[in-house]
Amino acid sequence: MILLSDPGALRTHLRKIQKIDTTLGLVPTMGALHEGHLKLVERAVEENTIAVASIFVNPLQFNNPDDLSRYPRTLDEDCALLESAGCQLVFAPSTEDMYRVPPVLKLDFGSLEHVMEGAFRPGHFNGVGIVVARLFNMVQPDRAYFGQKDLQQVAVVRRLVEDLAFPIEIVPCPTVREVDGLALSSRNRRLSLEHRVMAPLIYKTLGEAQKMLAAGYSVEEAKQHVRTQFMRYPDFLLEYFEVADAGTLQPVEEVQPVGQTALCMAAHLGGVRLIDNIVF
Ligand code: PAJ
Repeated sequence: MILLSDPGALRTHLRKIQKIDTTLGLVPTMGALHEGHLKLVERAVEENTIAVASIFVNPLQFNNPDDLSRYPRTLDEDCALLESAGCQLVFAPSTEDMYRVPPVLKLDFGSLEHVMEGAFRPGHFNGVGIVVARLFNMVQPDRAYFGQKDLQQVAVVRRLVEDLAFPIEIVPCPTVREVDGLALSSRNRRLSLEHRVMAPLIYKTLGEAQKMLAAGYSVEEAKQHVRTQFMRYPDFLLEYFEVADAGTLQPVEEVQPVGQTALCMAAHLGGVRLIDNIVF
């Protein structure tokens, strides 16, 4: 496995190894890798001649400076995990490698900006869009792999690819969970033992809301149930619970046809922000 940080060296290397029928799969990450990331890498390895992973903690997408400074950075461990997953190339630029000059371009994803992650993290999707577009241009992959854990991010990236005509197939991959249901996240390692025990409440209440909606309860009743569950844990602050269309991510008042309703949640636990969703 090769590790590069300079975009110029990356292009030279890619030109050298690419043949006419080579396909390239990119897995963009911010590092602190876990089994969720590795599942994306394994899929990229399976479906492409070359699998590339990028590791870059992108300052542009953090609306909270504390979250950025406390984001775990574990490059050596990450590289060992990527190598054992069969990844051939890691691109891990420094902030200066990624942003020679600070970008002035601003991306606005329309209605996706006004709900959930867009509404609660102003500027976040601009930052995601800019860095993903830069990675797409630097790596020029045929396919790019994203986790459905960040459902709204998948919608944003699809929009980016559509609007800017990137010739790249976006491959969404299922959410990987701990046995107790907690979605794997780099931020989980910042949870105290006590909070780690409480964290599965997110997936548990998502499941309960899904059952209620399937049984004919209203969206408002499901929302009230979720709020009540969180009120029992003063440390757990529910930021939002939304019932949305799984494609547009816009809130809905009624369950959509099979596979098109998304239940999305964000909550803070001991200063750690966790998100999750279920599509049914
Ligand atoms: P990061 O949080 O490191 O996640 C990298 C990729 O792994 C994303 O596509 C994310 O959805 C996926 N992922 C994370 N946890 C997962 C889980 N439990 N199951 C399945 N997939 C999971 O998302 C980002 O980084 C950044 O916003 C990025 C796209 C790299 C742009 O900076």
